Amino acid sequence: MRILAIETSCDDTALSVVRCEGGLEGPHFVIEQNVVSSQIEVHRPFGGVVPSLAKREHVKNLPVLTEQIFEESRIKNQESGKEGKIIGDIDAIAVTVGPGLAPALWAGIEFAKDLAKKLDKPLWGANHLLGHIYSVYLPQEIGKVEQREIKFPAVALLVSGGHTILARMDALDKIEKLGETKDDAVGEAFDKVAKMLGLPYPGGPEIQKISEAGDAQAIDFPRPMIGSGDFNFSFSGLKTAVLYYLRKQELKANSYKLKADTAASFQNAAIDILVKKTRGAIEESGAQSLILGGGVAANKLLREELTRMSEEVGVNFYTPSAFVHNTDNAAMIAVAAYIDYLRGVKYAPEAQPNLNL
Ligand code: KG4
Ligand code: ZN
Repeated sequence: MRILAIETSCDDTALSVVRCEGGLEGPHFVIEQNVVSSQIEVHRPFGGVVPSLAKREHVKNLPVLTEQIFEESRIKNQESGKEGKIIGDIDAIAVTVGPGLAPALWAGIEFAKDLAKKLDKPLWGANHLLGHIYSVYLPQEIGKVEQREIKFPAVALLVSGGHTILARMDALDKIEKLGETKDDAVGEAFDKVAKMLGLPYPGGPEIQKISEAGDAQAIDFPRPMIGSGDFNFSFSGLKTAVLYYLRKQELKANSYKLKADTAASFQNAAIDILVKKTRGAIEESGAQSLILGGGVAANKLLREELTRMSEEVGVNFYTPSAFVHNTDNAAMIAVAAYIDYLRGVKYAPEAQPNLNL
């Protein structure tokens, strides 16, 4: 089946048309079209996402991106001698219902409701968190198929700007949360530490970049809850430790070396916590695979360290092959909606800002 998916939970307006096949036993996906309009430049002056501005931008972008999708398919159809628009071939429209910023979610949902009515197609709600987990099934390139035979049980680590979750998966559709952050999400900690260092929003990629010039062993930052014996996380203490460290170094605060060492040492501590907890979860659940999703999955050091750990413990490691599928996108929403359809789960088309796994 072919799904047109819409994602507006935060600061990216995204649409995608995905062909979904194979059922729960052998799901595979072809991304036919994928468009994302980032609002980073709009929110950057505020150092973070402003919900009312996010809504305004989504409302502005959605019709433009939808028209772009239809225009692209009109051209494709003409080239292959077919009549009409792609919309005739779409089986359903999917939209993120949560978690996320309420005004941003509603912008997508209202638009999707109208579109579904106009095109006379069913409208399916989708869970953004499941989208991030299932994003490992997305092929790297548009128009290509890539079969992924992920063996279960698996452990999923979801790391984004709003969430840090470890989950056990006994099957594609059997997910049980093992633990999550008790305060800040890891991406949020990256963003806040970047702000302290005077780096622009979003901070994750900036911390990664400046860390390359720093010494990751320079400062021994704390690793909260690393030995707590469960699968929960805490990143707020680590963030505060960075703040106190920088206050003490006041005189040298503008030194590039100090910034690079602080960023690298912070990144090292945060990743150390993620990797140790994930290893514990794999060992306890006897997992055969590790799945990594969410915006922070784009982090190079995190990918390297998880690859190394996966080799050591003997599990297969999966993370989206294309970096654009780590951060928010609509293709992953199509995948989540397809899997929900297969397992008979339905989300009402209403914003659920605090929706969880
Ligand atoms: O999944 P996502 O796009 O949005 C949410 O659902 O939250 O994740 C965004 C988060 C931001 O906190 C951003 O700083 C972080 O992902 N991020 C990174 C990197 N790229 C994005 N964090 C660390 N290293 C990166 N390379
Ligand atoms: Zn996300």
